[in-house]
Amino acid sequence: MLRLLFVGDVYGKPGRRVLAAQLPLLRPDFDFIVVNGENAAGGYGLNRESFDLITGAGADAVTLGNHAWHHKDITALLNDPRLIRPLNLPPGTPGRGAHTFEVSGVRLTVVNLLGRVFMDAAHNPFLAMDELLAQPDLGTVFVDFHAEATSEKAALAWYLDGRVAAVIGTHTHVATADSRILPNGTAFQTDAGFTGPLHSIIGADPDGPIQKFVTERPHRFSVKDGPAELNGVKLELEGGQAVRIERYHYEEGGDGSAAS
Ligand SMILES: [Fe+2]
Repeated sequence: MLRLLFVGDVYGKPGRRVLAAQLPLLRPDFDFIVVNGENAAGGYGLNRESFDLITGAGADAVTLGNHAWHHKDITALLNDPRLIRPLNLPPGTPGRGAHTFEVSGVRLTVVNLLGRVFMDAAHNPFLAMDELLAQPDLGTVFVDFHAEATSEKAALAWYLDGRVAAVIGTHTHVATADSRILPNGTAFQTDAGFTGPLHSIIGADPDGPIQKFVTERPHRFSVKDGPAELNGVKLELEGGQAVRIERYHYEEGGDGSAAS
């Protein structure tokens, strides 16, 4: 049995801080930890410093998303097999969209995939998964589906039910209360939620998004400071399928302690 922790989108400095403090404490309970680092550097993308912080805190693999190319040093970083960029990008894209790890004698393939509904162009994620799953020796497959629409996330999970161990959504930053194991053994949660500032609008200081909606003009967004939350999903995987899925939530109190 493989105990896997997936941590949702690490957002800016507050996200990095709560991750650095909490992940080492969670580490002994898991065989493998995947962290989505898509918003780790200033809310957009990942740089070397953030990658080193996330892996240093205990992540075995780091996934990305639509902001994968925001920082220049990402191309060099993608040589590291622990860093997984979206799978459904044009042939010749640097890095890898899936990587197979050996975890205490078990093969675990971690996949990062982009949705297409209300997102920038990407190749068909359903067909990209068909192509990937035609390859041999993937072992247990974990999919981080970085997508906006709940319908697209659910459709992919049902499409892959029984063929992968888990499909967990990221990108919308709000944890959904629909953790479940589908009939053929695939664990699914529409969104893992994010790891970042608690008193924010999906990470940003509320003022920016509010002004944007009220004035209908572009407005600068900044990372909200203050206490942070960490959201993720705990999974138990066996024989390429899921046997347990459970949400994980941690919140810094005013004094830095856990509120729940
Ligand atoms: Fe995203």
